[in-house]
Amino acid sequence: MVSLALCAAAGVASAAAAGNGADSLSDADKTCLQCHAQEGFKKDLANGEALSLHVQGEAFAGSVHKAIGCAGCHGDVDLKNHPGATSNIRSVRQYSVERADTCRQCHEDAFKQHEGSLHATRLRQGSPVAPVCTGCHGSHSVSPKTAYETCVSCHAAALGAHQKWLPNATLHHEVVSCAACHAPTVLRMIDLRLYDGVAKRWVSEQEGQAQFEKLARSIDADGNGLDPRELRNLLKEVNRDAAAPPKTLRGRVELRTGVEAHQLSDKAQALKACDNCHRDGAEPFQNITVSITGPDGRPIRYRAQKEVLTSVLSVDSLREFYAIGGTRSRFLDILFVLTLLAGIGVPIGHMTVRWLSRRYLGKGSGQSATHDSPDRNR
Ligand code: HEC
Ligand code: HEC
Ligand code: HEC
Ligand code: HEC
Ligand code: HEC
Ligand code: HEC
Ligand code: HEC
Repeated sequence: MVSLALCAAAGVASAAAAGNGADSLSDADKTCLQCHAQEGFKKDLANGEALSLHVQGEAFAGSVHKAIGCAGCHGDVDLKNHPGATSNIRSVRQYSVERADTCRQCHEDAFKQHEGSLHATRLRQGSPVAPVCTGCHGSHSVSPKTAYETCVSCHAAALGAHQKWLPNATLHHEVVSCAACHAPTVLRMIDLRLYDGVAKRWVSEQEGQAQFEKLARSIDADGNGLDPRELRNLLKEVNRDAAAPPKTLRGRVELRTGVEAHQLSDKAQALKACDNCHRDGAEPFQNITVSITGPDGRPIRYRAQKEVLTSVLSVDSLREFYAIGGTRSRFLDILFVLTLLAGIGVPIGHMTVRWLSRRYLGKGSGQSATHDSPDRNR
């Protein structure tokens, strides 16, 4: 018990500043944690496995579910007769699969979409490893996460597999959400996100500042989405501080809503044909948003008109984004196809396109280094 008290105290001290430490939890939750915050607390199951009963109060306090408290998901636990010996837990996996059903109470939409996914199908077919809700989101530390972070936590090895058929797969993984290809039946969009080209990372809005949306709203006077001129004005405003590093926009292919990321199909159905994106009028390019990364990592989005991708007024705004076929300049697209046909091969083909697009868009050679390792963000 002594070490337990020390642990808790250290945790409280480090998180107290944010007001998010375990001590900010409700009294009811603290009661549960009196027992369940103990390190190494576990239950031995009849099949020889150990079910950990340890819950990190700190992590829970920082999760999206802090407000619903332990009772939000464990309403069945009644302290009058708890702990009683629960004997119906046959294995850790069975417990996990059954408990994940509680998520449904509040997230029916996500639940229904996930039902038809490849992971849920494999589970029904008896897979002992296919993930349930908590496999991807966790149970006590649920927080907003990008598809990239989520998928790669289990499928890091798959990144390499894409290189066999997808040129510059690293770049594609940065600018195309995993779910945009693996949930092929869902509609996509282009999210133009504010990007710091010097530091090579996405720009975040500070907690409590909430300026981006207000600014976009005031510039979009007629309320019909930002047109090319308005987008240019928005960027001018964002870059008003001449001393700060210039911010530009980088496009990402994403699903229109995060919840649709659950509609994952079998890999044989995943988007593979290049012309899903690299074609004039391709589907993802019909819906555009402009966004900034919010303080919690979720994007704050504002609608834009699709003309922003093709207008000559956008050349400056979109320096960091050129998806062959999807954005401006047919000349480059034709050239791209020709180099492929000529059998020069993709590597030379796209380097040429890169080089030309930089020149065409008037980029200084000093900035021609490509997107090396920006932090992935949605
Ligand atoms: C006095 C200590 C104590 C307190 C307080 C306590 N628990 Fe438990 N809890 C236990 C023990 C011991 C077990 C293992 C019981 C067993 O052997 O099945 C357990 C098991 C559990 C389990 C896993 C088994 C199951 O039934 O699913 C959950 C979930 C759980 N507790 C939630 C809670 C919640 C929520 C609270 C607060 C409302 C709480 N506990 C308060 C001691 C405690
Ligand atoms: C958002 C829903 C949710 C909330 C809120 C929640 N739990 Fe859980 N809890 C779960 C799920 C789901 C599992 C099963 C996890 C697994 O093993 O896959 C679980 C499992 C447990 C277990 C069994 C051991 C384990 O970790 O698997 C204990 C004990 C427990 N919860 C206690 C708590 C306590 C204490 C709180 C409040 C501080 C809490 N839970 C809040 C969903 C929740
Ligand atoms: C009692 C209702 C309730 C239950 C049960 C519940 N949640 Fe939630 N969940 C919420 C609420 C409320 C929010 C919104 C919090 C916010 O927007 O800040 C939320 C938000 C989320 C988010 C959104 C994070 C994001 O990207 O915005 C995820 C993911 C999530 N829950 C997963 C789960 C999982 C997994 C379970 C089961 C282990 C579960 N929830 C069980 C109420 C619940
Ligand atoms: C294969 C991994 C995976 C599984 C399994 C999974 N999710 Fe998700 N979930 C995700 C991803 C990825 C996102 C979207 C992140 C984003 O916004 O791009 C997400 C988003 C969510 C959100 C936020 C939706 C929103 O409106 O932004 C909720 C709520 C949620 N999931 C609940 C659940 C529930 C409930 C289950 C089980 C029925 C579940 N998830 C199963 C990966 C998964
Ligand atoms: C918690 C770990 C986990 C997460 C997170 C996860 N998966 Fe999976 N995924 C699996 C497992 C395990 C299998 C294999 C299931 C089986 O075959 O029984 C699988 C299978 C797949 C397959 C089929 C692979 C094949 O060889 O047939 C694809 C495609 C896939 N997942 C895509 C995704 C995508 C996209 C995401 C993110 C939205 C994701 N997964 C998130 C664990 C995970
Ligand atoms: C441009 C579309 C696209 C993107 C982006 C994409 N994938 Fe894929 N992925 C595919 C296609 C198509 C296949 C099937 C390739 C084949 O076998 O022909 C595949 C195969 C897979 C497989 C099975 C690998 C294997 O060895 O057979 C997994 C797992 C997977 N992807 C996960 C991911 C994850 C995780 C991400 C995000 C980091 C991602 N994919 C991004 C299109 C994409
Ligand atoms: C889901 C949409 C999508 C699919 C499918 C897709 N791409 Fe891309 N691709 C993009 C986007 C978006 C970019 C723009 C990257 C940027 O400029 O930031 C891009 C960039 C490129 C580039 C330029 C790379 C560089 O180094 O500048 C080449 C070449 C390319 N794609 C070829 C292909 C080929 C060949 C295929 C089919 C095997 C393919 N792409 C499939 C979305 C896609």
